[in-house]
Amino acid sequence: MEWSFVAVILAVALVCPRASSIGANWGTQASHPLPPEIVVRMLRENGIQKVKLFDAEYDTLRALGKSRIEVMVGIPNEMLSTLASSHKAAEKWVSKNVSTHINTDNVNIRYVAVGNEPFLSTYNGSYLNTTFPAMRNIQIALLKAGLHNQVKVTCPLNADVYDSSTTLPSGGDFRADIRDLMITIVKFLVEIGGPFTVNIYPFISLYNDANFPVDYAFFDGVSQPVSDGGTFYYNVFDANYDTLVHALEKNGFGNMPIIVGEIGWPTDGDRNANVEYARKFNQGFMAHIAGGRGTPRRPGPIDAYLFSLIDEDAKSVQPGYFERHWGIFTF
Ligand SMILES: *[C@@H]1O[C@H](CO)[C@@H](O)[C@H](O)[C@H]1NC(C)=O
Ligand SMILES: *[C@@H]1O[C@H](CO)[C@@H](O)[C@H](O)[C@H]1NC(C)=O
Ligand SMILES: *[C@@H]1O[C@H](CO)[C@@H](O)[C@H](O)[C@H]1NC(C)=O
Repeated sequence: MEWSFVAVILAVALVCPRASSIGANWGTQASHPLPPEIVVRMLRENGIQKVKLFDAEYDTLRALGKSRIEVMVGIPNEMLSTLASSHKAAEKWVSKNVSTHINTDNVNIRYVAVGNEPFLSTYNGSYLNTTFPAMRNIQIALLKAGLHNQVKVTCPLNADVYDSSTTLPSGGDFRADIRDLMITIVKFLVEIGGPFTVNIYPFISLYNDANFPVDYAFFDGVSQPVSDGGTFYYNVFDANYDTLVHALEKNGFGNMPIIVGEIGWPTDGDRNANVEYARKFNQGFMAHIAGGRGTPRRPGPIDAYLFSLIDEDAKSVQPGYFERHWGIFTF
């Protein structure tokens, strides 16, 4: 991608007041990954204050040491069953991948993401039984390590855990097949002070539905806003986010903090995936949250991580050819 694009995004990042803070996802499914030290320098030079990882690679974390960048480490779905069934495995994971880095490398680890979108419909329920027990075991391990105040457990979920395509925001509730489980998880997160992490993808709304109004995916306004009982929605991000807010409120968790774990737009691989749209979306989003106004239902700062920092040329294209092109930076 052109440097001008990057420069403009970052200019917005830098004027973004403390109100909302912007992070980036750092994925590593690339055939020629950049050395972690270089990526950390890119993050710092570009004013990115937080980073979300999909694992807890030793070299990555070491490179983040002393940078003061806030870190969310990740546990891949494949590890959930082991961590769900063994306290010892959870303790070992926390010790190796969290405690060591905090204690010896000074890494500012703030969250452990247990699983990555484990309830995605396409996983056919593979992780339904193991996600919550794994979250609980990791929390117990953090407690034992004395890190539970500093490091919070969360679970990045796809917005498909609450059906947003069929309802207005005020109709929001958790997907019927996982509703009880979601309530168990949210209750647990509230108890331990962990946030609800959700990935929101207006691009996918557009990709999946040929009739989706293009302007509604962006932040420049629409001629016909969506009215939800007199509350007007001008972009699908706000509507989607508020669908979650309503789902939480409806189940008694109206004050639950929310993190947008992934948000972004691809630059190639689909008719709507190009540099122009990516620029329009990312800049629009940054400007949208910069004022700290929030959404109609949840005014205030929005905590979000852009997806993604760098293109990943080794990702599966099963979701679509755009999958390798989410980066603000190209390969
Ligand atoms: C984290 O810790 C476990 C030890 O329980 C280890 O198997 C794993 O490879 C470590 N690193 C990552 C990236 O998960
Ligand atoms: C889910 O089920 C479908 C249809 O049975 C199958 O094609 C797909 O491979 C399954 N996916 C997973 C992750 O098990
Ligand atoms: C989850 O547990 C239920 C009930 O015990 C069982 O029927 C189901 O097969 C389990 N699912 C997986 C993916 O292991």
